[in-house]
Amino acid sequence: MLHGVNLVIPAGETHILFGPNGSGKSSLLATIMGLPPYRVTSGHILFKGRPVEAVPVDERARLGFGMTFQRPPGLDGVTVEAFTAAIGSADMLKEEAAALDFRGFEERDVIVGFSGGEIKRWEILKLFLKRSALCLFDEPESGVDLEHIAAVGGAIDPLLGANAPKSLPRTLLGNTSTL
Ligand SMILES: Nc1ncnc2c1ncn2[C@@H]1O[C@H](COP(=O)(O)OP(=O)(O)OP(=O)(O)O)[C@@H](O)[C@H]1O
Ligand SMILES: [Mg+2]
Repeated sequence: MLHGVNLVIPAGETHILFGPNGSGKSSLLATIMGLPPYRVTSGHILFKGRPVEAVPVDERARLGFGMTFQRPPGLDGVTVEAFTAAIGSADMLKEEAAALDFRGFEERDVIVGFSGGEIKRWEILKLFLKRSALCLFDEPESGVDLEHIAAVGGAIDPLLGANAPKSLPRTLLGNTSTL
């Protein structure tokens, strides 16, 4: 249970939460995203001035909320290509995947059989493809080897404040337990 969380993240800014294992970082992001079983029992979550704590997760996603997961489930029977087409971003896949050194995954089912580091890179790519305006990163670097950690950083970098496309200012909230 999280108490007394008071956080303001101005549009276009990047904020990182640091805290030890079990301190509630993932829970906070999941609550902002609107994932069950988390509930807001008092107070509000405001997005562009509008309270969203009663808005279901799918509608929050349509409003621009996006989250990378520490341990996302596999989507049997849904290829990376099909997923990307379903969110209307087929034209972006090749270029964005190359930027993340994530080639040759088009025909594979989402997450199924991905290594830990591949899952992280897919999760970031997913937010890119989804054009999420509020990007919630749950420990994007954990489990990624040194060779690819630069690819993860390099992938997140263009999303950040000054580097973000003017047409789509992005706000980021991330967390990590590693310094
Ligand atoms: N649905 C739940 N029921 C009971 N306890 C829960 C539930 N969800 C989370 N917790 C507990 O709340 C605490 C905070 O978990 P959370 O995953 O938010 O931590 P974290 O800061 O992200 O940790 P880590 O750095 O290990 O990822 C943990 O002790 C976890 O077991
Ligand atoms: Mg966590």
